[in-house]
Amino acid sequence: MYAQMVKTDADRVKSLDEMDPQERAFQQRIDAGEKIEPKEWMPEPYRKTLVRQISQHAHSEVVGQLPEGNWITRAPTLERKAILLAKVQDEAGHGLYLYCAAETLGVSRDDLYEQLLAGRAKYSSIFNYPTLSWADIGAIGWLVDGAAIMNQVQLQKTSYGPYSRAMIRICKEESFHQRQGYDIMMKLCAGTAEQKAMAQDAIDRWWWPSLMMFGPSDDASVHSVQSMAWKIKILSNDELRQRFVDQTVPQAEFIGLKVPDPDLKWNEKRQSYDFGEVDWDEFFQVLAGNGPCNRERMASRTRAWEDGAWFREALTAHADKAAKRKATAPIAAE
Ligand SMILES: [Fe+2]
Ligand SMILES: [Fe+2]
Repeated sequence: MYAQMVKTDADRVKSLDEMDPQERAFQQRIDAGEKIEPKEWMPEPYRKTLVRQISQHAHSEVVGQLPEGNWITRAPTLERKAILLAKVQDEAGHGLYLYCAAETLGVSRDDLYEQLLAGRAKYSSIFNYPTLSWADIGAIGWLVDGAAIMNQVQLQKTSYGPYSRAMIRICKEESFHQRQGYDIMMKLCAGTAEQKAMAQDAIDRWWWPSLMMFGPSDDASVHSVQSMAWKIKILSNDELRQRFVDQTVPQAEFIGLKVPDPDLKWNEKRQSYDFGEVDWDEFFQVLAGNGPCNRERMASRTRAWEDGAWFREALTAHADKAAKRKATAPIAAE
């Protein structure tokens, strides 16, 4: 499982000596832990990688509202409904911070959105799975937001200033999301046999897709090596996945749930869990658009985009009018 990283020529990162002076100065700033800010010079591939990563992240926040939104009207109590509503709204906010961070790199939000709707941009494959029971809302908060936090905590230290600052804000809210999910699972596990079975069924279905959220193993991940040299990523996919497993297994055991992995075993020597291989065929199938809910998710986003057209137009017309009024208004006497 922990094979040595095999770097092909395409993956190889240039050494400082091979860089031109501008690139070298840039890399040295990153190596020294400095943040890169929007108007500063950056290599084009650095900018492009960030646009791809930040927009994928933004799309994931926005599409991620759909599986949970499905349960707002069916939450079991008024309190649960209010909590879920707040959580789903937070995800919309995360999408907005992240689209703003991407816009500082010279792309427009409309373009990014159109790429998503045209199927040219990706979002996290996890949101293509259905939410079949209330326990799935618990499993999403606990496992999916939990995996997201594991990834986002390291991104607070990412080299691009606006992305790093967005992450700091987002992480605070994500930890609330994870707790509310775990709280749902705790209550179900302390309930009737049927409720506990519902919680077990949810972890059975969400465990493996959650592990997939960290992306393919490092030896198969095309972007990892350069992204780490640029500190766009700080920890590798496999390291993050391992941390997630180590953190989550004791939480499952604490509430009496079984992690659906026959190969899961504590490794005394590594002081970590050994675990089974993720089904990467399933991951690539879902990524290619063939997951259980891909079409439904895109249809919902497209409908929302089309339904909102009149509002975007009105907003722009109002902003134009206000700007014109301001430009022609007499200057107020002091
Ligand atoms: Fe989020
Ligand atoms: Fe979240």
